[in-house]
Amino acid sequence: MSRPLCRKLGLAVPLVQAPMAGGATTPALVAAVSGAGALGSLAAAALTPAGMVSEVAAIRALTDSPFAINLFVQDTPQPDTASLDAALARLAPWHAGLGLPAPGLPDKWCEPFAEQLETLIALQPAAASFTFGILTVGQVACLRAAGIMVVGTATSLAEGLAWQAAGADAVCAQGEEAGGHRGTFLGEQSDSLTPMLALTRQLAGALEIPVIAAGGMMDGHDMAAALAAGAQACQLGTAFLRCPESGISAPWKQALAEAPAGSTRLTRAFSGRLARGVVNGYMQAMADFEAAAPAYPLMNALTGPLRAAAARQSRAECLSLWAGTGVHRAQALPAAQLVASLAAGCAC
Ligand SMILES: Cc1cc2nc3c(=O)[nH]c(=O)nc-3n(C[C@H](O)[C@H](O)[C@H](O)COP(=O)(O)O)c2cc1C
Repeated sequence: MSRPLCRKLGLAVPLVQAPMAGGATTPALVAAVSGAGALGSLAAAALTPAGMVSEVAAIRALTDSPFAINLFVQDTPQPDTASLDAALARLAPWHAGLGLPAPGLPDKWCEPFAEQLETLIALQPAAASFTFGILTVGQVACLRAAGIMVVGTATSLAEGLAWQAAGADAVCAQGEEAGGHRGTFLGEQSDSLTPMLALTRQLAGALEIPVIAAGGMMDGHDMAAALAAGAQACQLGTAFLRCPESGISAPWKQALAEAPAGSTRLTRAFSGRLARGVVNGYMQAMADFEAAAPAYPLMNALTGPLRAAAARQSRAECLSLWAGTGVHRAQALPAAQLVASLAAGCAC
């Protein structure tokens, strides 16, 4: 089957390792995946511009193969104090439970997107992917003029059409099975929960630009189904979380190793944006509050100290255990071996 997207990126395998903020996508993981003939992606949303420069240098020290950098498209928020106070009050007992001081406001809510984008363009990766929002036509043109392929995340047909109109080279169709945050930027996040195969088919049928399928794929057979539905490549995240090169914390990795089928759900309780993870005590106890949690990145920043302490103290019950519906099928294989097994399984 002809896959211009893979040809353009020089990929031997129609596979993208998903960018995964939260520590998973170390330079070692990105380089191992890219070196094995797929496209590694560095999650840069939580990195400072200087951090982006050093992570990219580390990738380039390990491989000459193409890779992608991913950012969240976001503005620095203007918080409303009442909703912050309510969230801090709900977080107080969790802090006490971990022996932390009372929760407070962070030094910053998120990294500065404009500077991150400028840094990304200067770093000139083969591709750049974006989620949580959409770039302007001018920003897309700047990236393309620098020789960077632009991939926008879409959770609905309307978002796919918007990225196409903005000039993107490809769209990543994020099905509802996907681990981590929903990329939705048009309408309600809870209204854009189409399963991966249906969304892929819909976008591939309607768009002129290539579609990369994402969500719930764990082996080569899953990939083959997405390619048959019209995708030119498949983006897998959860499948890579247990790789030795993945940098997630030990209690998170352990929770994934023990997660049975059906153990994930979507929640706003950690970050203020709908995201899929393994259900734990925090998610259950905060279920009555999650609808009122201040929107991303506010709640995400407010829960930062709690999540960091939970990782240090191996307290998985209050850690964000982001993972997709296929978590119970994730294997602890070295990344290059996983890429080879995925390629063999989809015969692609
Ligand atoms: C731990 C984790 C973190 C993620 N972080 C990001 C991110 O930083 N940027 C992004 O575009 N997508 C992110 N995603 C979503 C992935 O791009 C992709 O949609 C998802 O992993 C595909 O579903 P799967 O996990 O079932 O393979 C993340 C997913 C996970 C599991």
